[in-house]
Amino acid sequence: MARILITEQIDGAAVDQLSQNHEVLIEHRLWSDMEQLKARSVDIDAIIVRNQTQVTADLIQSASHLKVIGRAGAGLDNIDCDAASKANVVVCYTPSENSLSVAELVMGYMLSLARDIPAAQQSTSKGNWERKRFTGSELSGKTLGIIGFGRIGTLVAERANAFGMTVIAHDEFLTPDAPHLLENDVELMGLSDLLSQSDFVSCHTPLTEDTRGFVNSDFLSQMKHNAYLINASRGEVINESDLVVALESEKLSGAALDVREVEPPIAGKLEEMTNVLLTPHIGAFTREAQDRVIERVCHDVDAVLHGEPATSFFNFPLPNSQP
Ligand code: MLT
Repeated sequence: MARILITEQIDGAAVDQLSQNHEVLIEHRLWSDMEQLKARSVDIDAIIVRNQTQVTADLIQSASHLKVIGRAGAGLDNIDCDAASKANVVVCYTPSENSLSVAELVMGYMLSLARDIPAAQQSTSKGNWERKRFTGSELSGKTLGIIGFGRIGTLVAERANAFGMTVIAHDEFLTPDAPHLLENDVELMGLSDLLSQSDFVSCHTPLTEDTRGFVNSDFLSQMKHNAYLINASRGEVINESDLVVALESEKLSGAALDVREVEPPIAGKLEEMTNVLLTPHIGAFTREAQDRVIERVCHDVDAVLHGEPATSFFNFPLPNSQP
């Protein structure tokens, strides 16, 4: 029987099914204790994580039986994929299973910011009836700038188009004739042009050394006056101190952040601002997306442990199958 270690809150029917064929060790908070995590990993064949477990080169090297890492999500910034490949360990993940849920959250953010729904709800719950105060704006006719036009960016663009928005994009890996840009009537442009034209800017880039801290004072100063910033990608993409300055100076009208520089964050100025919407990294947390994500990752981990190829992998589908 193979030993599988689950180090974060991952459960449901697919995990129960996995437990019937393997020894599954579930420790939902193990991600927070690196020493314990390393100790528990010594004799495991597989590890299944979300985004909080740091699967480092050191961990991979010390887990000498490890054959497969299952990442229940799309981002791979917490996995040392080079170290995994060198150690002949399959990295499987779920690049598209939760994209729709993230895109829908972004639409919710735009509507909430434009109409100030959270503040209107709080005021009304207190017995007020402040109709004039909550005069918002329509999304229709506004420009949405999407930074990173991949799966999620495309789903956001489709939905924003249905709301009558103009969608523009910046993506260093695309050319203007990319089919998913043309199909959605999205113009690709340089970053400065996008920032100066957008009423809403939504970040959809992975976290890399190039994107870490990319939304800084220079970026924010180029945004349109009174625009809104949305981030449902990775928190470290934004320099939060610079964002606080842009909000305090009223350069921006507001922001919505599902992800933070540190998770969970230490409460600070952003938590006090009424024009900032904060959620606890719930972009992928819908029942539908979680069913798809957990089912896919459990299926692939099980496949690799049975000597069959993974269907959704980053490096190679089976150990010893790299070119
Ligand atoms: C993802 O990368 O899929 C989402 O941010 C959710 C997660 O990190 O688990």
